Amino acid sequence: MAHPRTLDLVIFGGTGDLAMRKLLPALYHLHCDALLPAEARIVGVARDGLDDDGYRSFARTHAERFIGKDFKPAEWAGFAERLVYAQVDALQADSFASLAERLNGRPDGQRVFYLSTAPSLFTTITGHLHGAGLVAADSRVVLEKPLGHDLASSRQINDEVGRYFAEDQIYRIDHYLGKEPVQNLLALRFGNALFEPLWRREWVRDVQITVAEQVGVEGRGEFYDRVGAMRDMVQNHLLQLLCIVAMEPPASIAPDAVRDEKLKILRALRPFGLADVATRTVRGQYKAGASGGQPVPGYLEENGIPGDSRTETFVALKAEINTWRWAGVPFFLRTGKRMQEKVAEIVINFRSVPHSIFGVPATPQHANRMVIRMQPEETVDLHLLAKQPGDVMQLHPVRLDLDFAEAFRTRRLEAYERLLMDVMRGNLTLFVRRDEQEAAWRWVEPIMAGWQAADDRPKPYTAGTWGPAGSSALLSRDGLSWHEEI
Ligand code: BG6
Repeated sequence: MAHPRTLDLVIFGGTGDLAMRKLLPALYHLHCDALLPAEARIVGVARDGLDDDGYRSFARTHAERFIGKDFKPAEWAGFAERLVYAQVDALQADSFASLAERLNGRPDGQRVFYLSTAPSLFTTITGHLHGAGLVAADSRVVLEKPLGHDLASSRQINDEVGRYFAEDQIYRIDHYLGKEPVQNLLALRFGNALFEPLWRREWVRDVQITVAEQVGVEGRGEFYDRVGAMRDMVQNHLLQLLCIVAMEPPASIAPDAVRDEKLKILRALRPFGLADVATRTVRGQYKAGASGGQPVPGYLEENGIPGDSRTETFVALKAEINTWRWAGVPFFLRTGKRMQEKVAEIVINFRSVPHSIFGVPATPQHANRMVIRMQPEETVDLHLLAKQPGDVMQLHPVRLDLDFAEAFRTRRLEAYERLLMDVMRGNLTLFVRRDEQEAAWRWVEPIMAGWQAADDRPKPYTAGTWGPAGSSALLSRDGLSWHEEI
């Protein structure tokens, strides 16, 4: 797909945390790798009274540390020429006139509007963009999560945005889909004949998806307390990962071919009744502890958190998929803040050999396992047993690196780089379709309702641990344990 001649990437929330932490560093890297269209401009939009130069120096001050060692003043100078600024109060329709002025100078260009603002502003902004005549048939809009608070509010946002943008102009971002190992999982599953016959209930014992963070709520207390781990992580990132693991082979890599298959999985998730919520979910909230050797406060002591908050900072649950391929295979999902380590991984645990001829016990510890790691490093490993060199037949666990970092000595694109490229190229495969998103809300809502009905507090866990004890118990009831405990 060719790049359009000129392109304006308009970032609402242009001075915000995401822009500085992720978007500008990603665009800077694409610029350095000559992956941005020559004429591409980045238009920062915010309420602050800045001019172009003011925005450039603001961006440099705030983005430099996130670019890290790759920051080169000369490259930045070239990149900064692409940056312009428009002061807009998103709530005021007439404020969009100045944006229109900036954009109309390039009438043949393509416009991408990146909404990195509170979701409550999405409908107002898209309405005002339309009102100012800025939405053309080839314009695109990128929506950051969270998209709504529940099914009803996400529907409302989608309806409103849908009045001005067709579904194929809407890019709902889930940055986990942009991570290299997740795409490598697609490549391994569907580019090789080897795995497909084993990728089913007959050979897979369980699947574990963990996204554990060491950080707490980091200055986002007020936001986080209204959201919690279920809405912040499970409804989107973890369920999307589950879909990539579980979906049937799509007919092609075309956006709807992939998204149709993911949707089928979301719709096949076994619904949770009240009793299941009690026995198959664990929610926790961190209390004071230590992280990286330093004492850290508990969630209730963080800024912006009410002392009696019941918001969960940890969720573990056992999901099941009602299909012939997956019936009876538990998919354990787990995410939390202030956990022992920063780990994001998908673990496919295969069944043990039916009979061991080597005297090695046929236990889960010795069974094959595929580990797709997104954090702290991006790797894909296959755990196998091999013969230990020597004069006796002794088996030893080995890890086969399926990521081939050595074979491909090119720089990996960070998730936001990859996804921004896809938006510019018009490739929707790694973006979430409306029906997927709504199916995900439909599945998580009864769980959250069950927690509310139970009227109890999340289980406390000490910061710097792997979460409440109930999390291990969730697996031990099936005779299993989390990957790090094996
Ligand atoms: C975001 C969540 O979507 O993902 C944050 O809102 C979380 O709470 C972040 O910290 C984790 O992303 P990553 O890529 O650092 O694992």
